[in-house]
Amino acid sequence: MSGRIPESFIDDVVARANIVDVVDSRVRLKKAGKNYTACCPFHNEKSPSFSVSSDKQFYYCFGCGASGNALKFIMEFDGIPFPDAVEKLAATLGMEVPHEDSSPQQQKQQQEKTSLYDLMNQASLFFQQQLRFHPEKSAAVNYLKKRGLTGQTAKHFNIGYAPDGWDNLKRQLDNDGTKEKALVECGMLIEKDEGRTYDRFRNRIMYPIRDMRGRTIGFGARTLGDEKPKYLNSPETPIFNKGHELYGLYECRQIRQTLKRLLVVEGYMDVVALHQYGIHYAVATLGTATSETHLQKIFKIVPEVVFCFDGDAAGRRAAKRGLEIVLPILEDGWQVRFLFLPEGEDPDTLVRQEGKEAFEERIHNAMAISEFLIKSLYPEVENPDSIDGRARIAKLAAPMVAQIPGLALRGLMNQALADHTGLPVSTIEALGKHEPRPAPAARENPAPVHAAAPLQVSEHNDEYSNTIAIPLLDKALGLLLHTPAGAQSVTDEHLAICVSLNHPQADLLCKLVHKLRAAPQPGLTEALTLFSLEPEFQQLRQLAQHHHPLWGNQTQVQEVTDCFNQIRRMANKQELTRIKHKLARVNGQLSQLTEEEQKRYLQLLQDKGVEKA
Ligand code: UTP
Ligand code: MN
Repeated sequence: MSGRIPESFIDDVVARANIVDVVDSRVRLKKAGKNYTACCPFHNEKSPSFSVSSDKQFYYCFGCGASGNALKFIMEFDGIPFPDAVEKLAATLGMEVPHEDSSPQQQKQQQEKTSLYDLMNQASLFFQQQLRFHPEKSAAVNYLKKRGLTGQTAKHFNIGYAPDGWDNLKRQLDNDGTKEKALVECGMLIEKDEGRTYDRFRNRIMYPIRDMRGRTIGFGARTLGDEKPKYLNSPETPIFNKGHELYGLYECRQIRQTLKRLLVVEGYMDVVALHQYGIHYAVATLGTATSETHLQKIFKIVPEVVFCFDGDAAGRRAAKRGLEIVLPILEDGWQVRFLFLPEGEDPDTLVRQEGKEAFEERIHNAMAISEFLIKSLYPEVENPDSIDGRARIAKLAAPMVAQIPGLALRGLMNQALADHTGLPVSTIEALGKHEPRPAPAARENPAPVHAAAPLQVSEHNDEYSNTIAIPLLDKALGLLLHTPAGAQSVTDEHLAICVSLNHPQADLLCKLVHKLRAAPQPGLTEALTLFSLEPEFQQLRQLAQHHHPLWGNQTQVQEVTDCFNQIRRMANKQELTRIKHKLARVNGQLSQLTEEEQKRYLQLLQDKGVEKA
């Protein structure tokens, strides 16, 4: 968007912003008397000389003299120009920046949004009043009492009551008939086909959902009994986005001195009950899964989040989703843990049964992300504790860990994975770098060859002979994978012959031998692991499946050698045929062959004689 931002709007943004929040979401502040302090973000220091005054809405560094208001802080800290800082600050306040040349339509939208906030706040006040004064309030009051809520808690969360009836709210907020459209837009009225409207929320306990600034943007509404649906939520509106908001966050921030971590729970009632029992740091997603936006929001406020889940299968699935969302954004210094509750319990029921201390003990013992990462893969892996199982876990987990942007955290997670699987950290890191890709069409993309080629056999490519070679080559690959020790008995001559075959499968065989010689491996899984980064991984995995070793190690090594000898015989035969063909073309004149070809010809004839003898 372009155009001048009106002065009045800038004043308004600065007036509405709280510099303490602005700074604190970027630099952790400590309360020190009336002010807040931190180590100055604008110069390097060990003891804090940076101070933020809530009264003056101003920051000042006694060390380097940096000073200013919230906007200046954003500009300096985020390194962005003034208009961007205004946009950014306004966005955190839910304000849309008007531009002086913005269209009348845009200005109108802006005004409409403001009036939606207004209506929602009025609605919230109305519901709170109904809880206190409505003639039939007792049903609601008794319900809340039955659930053990105190009046103080209800007040803290602005809990209210939408009485039964089709137009209580409508009559209250639209007495002059001009607000109907806006009330539909903010989800408080439902419009029928004929254009008639009625109250969305009837005979329900109303939990207002507030944004970070405390403005009511939506409601969660619970029945007093067993009617369905149990909870009715505000629809998405221009001011309410479920994927962004967390129930209870504003309320937590009201008690900000103690906010070191946030506990993410499922239900409104969980947040409310936990608060009442002295756990002031619970928030709930609004009937949606935790989103990246949620987490970004959380980590701007606290460095630690504990996800709380039911102990059942659905809870574990939800936890896995949470894990997948959190990994790609996890920065150093952030902590994520997973708390699984006993089946059939939720935080509300548990905290009532066992109280604050015991519940906090659970939080304290919640599962570390590294542990959960591994545990969450167990259902996907057969025999997760066996060698194969651990390799599989490493394979699945490493790419997940690799997504973590925080270097230190990623390193520690790789370490944890290495400890669990018994693999070296370097292998875990390597596994994380690439997901195994499906094997490319082998002929188009031959593997690099390491052995020196003594002789180019395939001047004209002998497709037929190569086709014959493939089963043998596959057999050698399969044998070697199951008996990696066999690689030590493969000679350089064998390798040279493989290279001379000029076939992708032969190249792969060389590659495998080289890798196994360089890093001897005890078994199939380990041998395969060497290829986890390579394009041939899938191909090798499949080859390994075809082969089932039957004998003891000694015989298998012998079998490997035998197989390579067979390959040599086959290659020699092929080469001899080729030279014979050429010889025939030059009418049997040996002198027409290259010196090398002559030498090979005689050699091959001799070998053949030896073999026959
Ligand atoms: P729960 O069914 O666990 O509700 O749903 P709860 O919080 O324990 O409710 P109480 O204790 O019976 O009062 C958890 C959350 O899922 C959403 C709500 O956000 C709820 O808090 N939900 C549940 C709905 O949106 N609609 C429903 O009908 C049920
Ligand atoms: Mn519950």
